[in-house]
Amino acid sequence: MSKKGIILAGGSGTRLSPITNAISKQLLLVYDKPMIYYPLSTLMLAGIENVLIICTKASLELFESLLGNGEKYGIQIQYKIQDKPLGLAHSFIIGEDFIGDSSVTLVLGDNLFHGNNFIKQIKKVISVGLPTIFAYQVDDPERYGVVEFSSRGNVIGIEEKPKSPKSQFAITGIYYYDNSVIKKAKSLTPSKRGELEITDINNLYLNDGSLKVEIMGRGISWLDTGTFESMHDASSYVRTIQNRQGYKIGCLEEVAWRNGWICDNKLVELANSQIKSEYGKYLLKLLHKQ
Ligand code: TTP
Repeated sequence: MSKKGIILAGGSGTRLSPITNAISKQLLLVYDKPMIYYPLSTLMLAGIENVLIICTKASLELFESLLGNGEKYGIQIQYKIQDKPLGLAHSFIIGEDFIGDSSVTLVLGDNLFHGNNFIKQIKKVISVGLPTIFAYQVDDPERYGVVEFSSRGNVIGIEEKPKSPKSQFAITGIYYYDNSVIKKAKSLTPSKRGELEITDINNLYLNDGSLKVEIMGRGISWLDTGTFESMHDASSYVRTIQNRQGYKIGCLEEVAWRNGWICDNKLVELANSQIKSEYGKYLLKLLHKQ
């Protein structure tokens, strides 16, 4: 059975207004490609070929024209609409049919992960198959769900946007859950802000003793792109690394090709369809670099 992943790309993007009055945040450019390319490439790098994109009704057509049914990347992409931003945990209710009786990896549509070890880490988590979240040390943990550790290093609590964080470790926007996540999501009641909280899901797993927390090392970059400043930072990061290395971050065609999901001829076809942009030219260069 192929592995399943969900990208949550709805939301209201109020922190990026006015542009988000007209267009979905996850379609905005992060340097040279749409934001959603980054989380989608993360799933693909993790070996996930079956993807559900959850988005708003207004942006559905745009996502479809950008990514289609995934065939051009050798994967399957389906879409579902989230009418209102009812929270991250809502994705497991919307995605119930898609998930079926599988486990699932959820990635937030505005999160960017980069670093070789990260892909190894997530692949290992998927192969082990235990519910796992990823924690990353940040300077401003109060903006996130925060993990509390015991003196022996075990996770003893998770708090959503705490005023006085009990650690510097924020929970990142990638989560791996077993099939009980659907039942757990359905059992939740909306929080004060009217959302089904992913923190509540994590606490349910924590209470039944099955939640694993993987620490993402400092050699891995985790950026989110929900504000003007963080979008600019992410764009600069991508530009700097790409110009230095000559490799692109989040290039879907490249990942598909390296995974063996599309052949050389398909890569040439995809390159030629966008050959006037540096992005298209890069795809052709990949074949010559071989
Ligand atoms: P957030 O950044 O928390 O929310 P937002 O995108 O609506 O932005 P803002 O705070 O500026 O209003 O969301 C994180 C990611 O999850 C983002 O990719 C949007 C997505 N999301 C949904 O798809 N549905 C939801 O109900 C929520 C809360 C978020």
